[in-house]
Amino acid sequence: MADTAKSATLTIGEQSYDLPIYSPTVGPDVVDIRKLYGQAGVFTYDPGFTSTASCDSTITFIDGDEGVLLHRGYPIDQLASKSHYLEVCYLLMYGELPTAAELEDFENTITRHTMIHEQMHNFFRGFRRDAHPMATMVGVVGAMSAFYHDSTDISDPRQREIASHRLIAKMPTIAAMAYKYSIGQPFVYPRNDLDYAANFLHMCFSVPAEKYEVNPILARAMDRIFTLHADHEQNASTSTVRLASSSGANPFACIAAGIACLWGPAHGGANQACLEMLKEIGSVDRIPEFIARAKDKNDPFRLMGFGHRVYKNRDPRATVMKQSADEVLDLLGVENNPILQVAKELEKQALEDPYFIDKKLFPNVDFYSGIILEAMGFPTSMFTPIFALSRTVGWVSQWKEQLADPQHKIGRPRQLYLGSAQRDYTDIENR
Ligand code: SDX
Repeated sequence: MADTAKSATLTIGEQSYDLPIYSPTVGPDVVDIRKLYGQAGVFTYDPGFTSTASCDSTITFIDGDEGVLLHRGYPIDQLASKSHYLEVCYLLMYGELPTAAELEDFENTITRHTMIHEQMHNFFRGFRRDAHPMATMVGVVGAMSAFYHDSTDISDPRQREIASHRLIAKMPTIAAMAYKYSIGQPFVYPRNDLDYAANFLHMCFSVPAEKYEVNPILARAMDRIFTLHADHEQNASTSTVRLASSSGANPFACIAAGIACLWGPAHGGANQACLEMLKEIGSVDRIPEFIARAKDKNDPFRLMGFGHRVYKNRDPRATVMKQSADEVLDLLGVENNPILQVAKELEKQALEDPYFIDKKLFPNVDFYSGIILEAMGFPTSMFTPIFALSRTVGWVSQWKEQLADPQHKIGRPRQLYLGSAQRDYTDIENR
């Protein structure tokens, strides 16, 4: 734990309490309130965790005011341009960039875990064809604990590592199978001669009836999208994974819980909702109407892909994603894509509007990603599964970090109770 030379004094009535303050490597100090209830008999109150650090971590740092995102200290824009997803996975899991030998060994391990148990194919067939792929992924990933018993003992570091490898390796296969099932096409097995992103495109878009060549530029763009979504500190789905893990639940159940949380439109579901919003806007002349709706307190509509709990400056991932959108659409010859024009004009007008400026609302990672994914041929229903696939390494890295901490305990928040005081039961004839 960091330095405790400083402390805060809380005074309640005649009583004062000294609370230790810890200083991080970088970022805000934290006030340790763990003993507050025992000493003062009061809880702190922070329903959305807007001012609460739930853990200490060495994995990812975000400076929301400066628009900075570091993975193990490395800026996301450098990783997105110089690294690749499996190398970022190694960095997130083990804390350092791998040597060439370490990377080769890691990539070989992941490659050889990409198939799923053949019996699991039957799970997909239990769903309706029009089931949302996220529903399928939650179900199939949760069911992995019924197949991979030899990596569910969370007290064994080696089993934790094997479970992490299995989840990173199999998530693209499961996501691709969910997609193929939803469009009535046969499942496509992974190929060990393809890299991670190319393999995913192959499993999604190849068909047995003809040869399929993965476009290397699209594979590179896919890999970059994976990297941009890999981890993001203690966001809602990662916090869900940590809380599920704190009860000792097996890794597959914890990651299934994270997938379920990510699905929400306020979180990972925003990429699907954002593209659907851009299509609803349809043309640049309708942008003012939607901006007015987003500002209207009586209208629940929000600009999807805009705003962030932490970023009060540009989301650095959105900047990289915007560049990638231009490249991919140029490559695909759709640089005049009307949806991209709407997105760029919407961003321009919103960022000139006092409402968005005052509330520090900027495009986030979900604003441009859907445009790229649609141009690649994915339906909007596959956008969040791709986010879940990418974030799996962040979830498992944070899960491993929590379990490696001997101090970790079950997460059990308290509440501000505003319900009825104790009262006696009333028989129905007297009500
Ligand atoms: C992700 O946490 C993470 O790290 C998440 C993520 C990750 O990588 O894991 O970055 C991924 O989830 C990105 C966010 C994707 N969601 C969206 O794009 C959905 C649209 N955005 C919002 O719903 C909202 O901005 C949130 C949920 C992202 C953040 O909400 P907060 O922090 O709880 O902020 P808030 O709702 O209290 O909003 C503050 C003010 C409010 O106005 P007032 O009540 O103060 O008058 O800003 C307004 C909000 O009404 N506001 C918006 C808005 N977002 C916030 N107004 C219009 N459009 C928006 N998008």
